[in-house]
Amino acid sequence: MPPQPHAAVLQFTQLLSATRRGARLARLLTVEQLVQWGWPRDSERVEAAEVVVAELAANAVVHGRLPGRGFRLGLMLLPDSRLRIEVTDPRGDRLPAACPVADEDGRGLVIVDALTDGWGVLPYPPSGKTVWAEVSPARGRA
Ligand SMILES: Nc1ncnc2c1ncn2[C@@H]1O[C@H](COP(=O)(O)OP(=O)(O)O)[C@@H](O)[C@H]1O
Ligand SMILES: [Mg+2]
Repeated sequence: MPPQPHAAVLQFTQLLSATRRGARLARLLTVEQLVQWGWPRDSERVEAAEVVVAELAANAVVHGRLPGRGFRLGLMLLPDSRLRIEVTDPRGDRLPAACPVADEDGRGLVIVDALTDGWGVLPYPPSGKTVWAEVSPARGRA
């Protein structure tokens, strides 16, 4: 079998409504899942993952929403213990634009950038996209 780029040891996926409540649920489910996977509840890495999911889910709901469609949260614990977060929304025609300008807009992705080892966007055929971000377990050991 060829090597899989993101072979997950453990994974979680949940379809959520594209609402403020759905975004909130994404954040809460992330914390509970990480605790279940053994990440300490009050650790910097759980807090980082929580903030990143909150920002990406808010973006899916605000910028990536299509009427009648939800968004999908994916969490993957990778073999090297990094956490891969994936938030998929139906608007492949609109993409995140991380703007380094000190503006009111664009702060969410600046925060995501600061809290992760990296993030990016992949097409989600036929017409959606996945915004992914990876949180290192070395991000705070407490
Ligand atoms: N999931 C998304 N779908 C479409 N556009 C997005 C998405 N996420 C971010 N964007 C675009 O990137 C910009 C920057 O996002 P962000 O840094 O979170 O700032 P904000 O959400 O406050 O505008 C947004 O204003 C939006 O134009
Ligand atoms: Mg945002």
